[in-house]
Amino acid sequence: MRFLSRSVLTCWVASAFVVGLDVDINSPDSVKAAAKVVAKNLMSYYHGNEPGQTPGILPGPPDDNKGPYYWWEGGALWGTMIDYWFYTKDTNYNNDTEKAIVWQAGAPTNSFMPPNWTASLGNDDQGFWGMTAMLAAENNFQNPPADDPQWLALAQAVFNTQAARWDTEECNGGLRWQVHYFAPNGGYNYKNTIASGIFFNMGARLARYTNNDTYAQWATKAWEWVQGVGYVDEDYNIWDGARIEENCTDFNKAQYGYSPAVLIQGLGFMYNYTNGSAYWGDRITNLTRRTLEVFFPNGTVVEPTCEHGTTASCTTDAYSFKGYLIRWLAQTTKMAPLVHDTIMTALRTSAQGAIKNCQDDGTCGFTWTGSAYDGNTGAGQQMNALSALLILLADTGTVGVPVTNNTGGTSAGNPDAGSEPEVLPFFTPLSRRDQAGAGVLTAVIVIVLVSGLFWMGSHTGEGS
Ligand SMILES: *[C@@H]1O[C@H](CO)[C@@H](O)[C@H](O)[C@H]1NC(C)=O
Ligand SMILES: *[C@@H]1O[C@H](CO)[C@@H](O)[C@H](O)[C@H]1NC(C)=O
Ligand SMILES: *[C@@H]1O[C@H](CO)[C@@H](O)[C@H](O)[C@H]1NC(C)=O
Ligand SMILES: *[C@@H]1O[C@H](CO)[C@@H](O)[C@H](O)[C@H]1NC(C)=O
Ligand SMILES: *[C@@H]1O[C@H](CO)[C@@H](O)[C@H](O)[C@H]1NC(C)=O
Ligand SMILES: *[C@@H]1O[C@H](CO)[C@@H](O)[C@H](O)[C@H]1NC(C)=O
Ligand SMILES: *[C@@H]1O[C@H](CO)[C@@H](O)[C@H](O)[C@H]1NC(C)=O
Ligand SMILES: *[C@@H]1O[C@H](CO)[C@@H](O)[C@H](O)[C@H]1NC(C)=O
Ligand SMILES: *[C@@H]1O[C@H](CO)[C@@H](O)[C@H](O)[C@H]1NC(C)=O
Repeated sequence: MRFLSRSVLTCWVASAFVVGLDVDINSPDSVKAAAKVVAKNLMSYYHGNEPGQTPGILPGPPDDNKGPYYWWEGGALWGTMIDYWFYTKDTNYNNDTEKAIVWQAGAPTNSFMPPNWTASLGNDDQGFWGMTAMLAAENNFQNPPADDPQWLALAQAVFNTQAARWDTEECNGGLRWQVHYFAPNGGYNYKNTIASGIFFNMGARLARYTNNDTYAQWATKAWEWVQGVGYVDEDYNIWDGARIEENCTDFNKAQYGYSPAVLIQGLGFMYNYTNGSAYWGDRITNLTRRTLEVFFPNGTVVEPTCEHGTTASCTTDAYSFKGYLIRWLAQTTKMAPLVHDTIMTALRTSAQGAIKNCQDDGTCGFTWTGSAYDGNTGAGQQMNALSALLILLADTGTVGVPVTNNTGGTSAGNPDAGSEPEVLPFFTPLSRRDQAGAGVLTAVIVIVLVSGLFWMGSHTGEGS
C-alpha cells in the first residue's frame, strides 16, 4: 500500500440541488435496488474487462496518469464485489470478479505476487488479495475451472509465503511492511499492524475453514506479537507500526480503520474456531468497544485521518478504509454473536449517513456525518457506500454465514501452495555458467529499479 502525497481529489464541488438516493432501510428489496445502482457506479471505475486492458486492476500506478489506485485496491474491490453478490444474490459481476482474481493471482506461482507488481510489493498488498480469495472460499463463490488456481489454495499460498517471511531477527517477530529490501518506496525497515494483522486474520480464517490447528497456532503467535509489541495498546488503540532500528518501539500512532478491521475479524474467527474461548472473547469485546469509540465517535463511521485532519493528510488509500471496517465488522457478527448488537447498531446508523450522501444515480460522497452529498467521489468512496448498504441485509435471513470445508465449502485447497520460488521482475533462471555473474546482475537490477524504470513517484509511506 502506498500513499500518494499529491491529492488527486483536492477540489470538488458540492452540488446544491441534488436528488438523493431513495432507500427504505427496512425493505430488503429497496436496499438491493439501491445497492445495484451504487455497484454499477462503482464498477464504472473498472476497465479491466475492456479490450487491451489488464484484468483485475483499477487504473493507477505505475501509470499514474491513468488514475490513483494502487494494485492492492483492485484486490479490495473484488472482495467488495464478492460480498455484493453474497448479500444481494445479483450475479451480474461474478464472471468479471472471477477472472480478475485468477488473472492477478500471478501464474505460475499463484500467490498474488505477479512480476508486474512485485518490485514494490507490500505484505499488506499481497494480503488484501489473499483475504479476497479467502472470502471467496468462505462465501462459496463460484469456483474457477479446475486448471485455474482455486480460492482456498490461493489463500494458503499467501499465508505460506508470509509465514516464511515472519521475521524473529528484528523486534522478536512480525512482518515487515515491504517484501523486498530493494523496495523503491522504502518500508522494508517498518513493521506494521496491517501486514502482521492480515497474517493473523488469514491464519484465523484458514484454521476455521480447514480445521487445521497449525494455522491457529500461527494466528495466536501473530496476535501475541502485535499486542505484545504494543501496537495494540492497553486501551486497545491500534497504532500503525514502528521501525526496526528502534526495536519497534517508536510507534507511529496514526489510527487507520483497516487496522482494527483486520484484527477484529481475525479475533472473531479465533473466537468461533475455539468455540467461544474466554481468551479471544475478552479481546474481541475490548477491541470492539474501543474501535466504536475511535471510529464511530457519534455513532457514524469516520476515517479519522480524512475527517478530523489530525495525523496525516488523507489519501486515495484511506478513502476506502471505512468500507473494509464495515464489511469485516459485519462478518464478525456472524462469528462472534457477543459483539453483534453493538456492531450492528453502529453499522445501521452509518448506513443512514451514507445514504444521505448518495445521489439517485448511485454516485456517493465520503463524509457521512453531514446531511447531504459532499461531491467527494472515487472508487474507495463508492466501495464504502456499497458496503454500508449491504450490511442492512445481513440479518434479513437471506444471507448465510461463512462456510467451512465441513459445512458446505467447495473450494479446493493445497496446504503446500506458495512454496514455488518467486518470479522476480527480469530474473530468469540462471545456467551454471551464468551464476558467477549473478551478483552483478542483481546489482544491475537494483540500479535499474532505483533509477526509476519502475514507478517511483513522490509519495509518503504510512510512517511519514
Ligand atoms: C458467466 O460465465 C459462465 C461460464 O462461462 C456463463 O455460462 C455465464 O453466462 C456468464 N454469466 C454472465 C452474466 O455473463
Ligand atoms: C502485466 O503487464 C502486461 C503488460 O502491461 C499485461 O499484459 C499483463 O496482463 C499484466 N499482468 C498482470 C498479472 O497484471
Ligand atoms: C475438505 O473436505 C474434503 C471432503 O469433503 C476432503 O477431501 C478434503 O481433504 C478437505 N480439505 C481440507 C483442507 O480439509
Ligand atoms: C496444516 O497446515 C500446515 C501449515 O500450512 C501444513 O504444513 C500441514 O500440511 C497442514 N495439515 C494438513 C493435514 O493439511
Ligand atoms: C525488542 O522488542 C522485542 C519485542 O517487543 C522484545 O521482546 C525484546 O526484548 C526487545 N529487545 C531489546 C533489546 O529491547
Ligand atoms: C469445538 O467444538 C467441537 C464440537 O464439540 C469440537 O470438535 C472441537 O474440537 C472444538 N474446537 C476447539 C478448538 O476446541
Ligand atoms: C460460530 O459461528 C456460527 C455460525 O455463525 C454460530 O452459529 C456460532 O454460534 C458461533 N460460535 C460461537 C461460540 O459464537
Ligand atoms: C478488557 O477490558 C477489561 C475492562 O477494561 C479489563 O478488565 C480486561 O483486563 C481487558 N482484557 C484484556 C485481555 O485486555
Ligand atoms: C459529535 O457531535 C457533537 C454534537 O453534534 C459535535 O459537537 C462533535 O463535533 C461531533 N464529534 C465528531 C467527532 O464528529
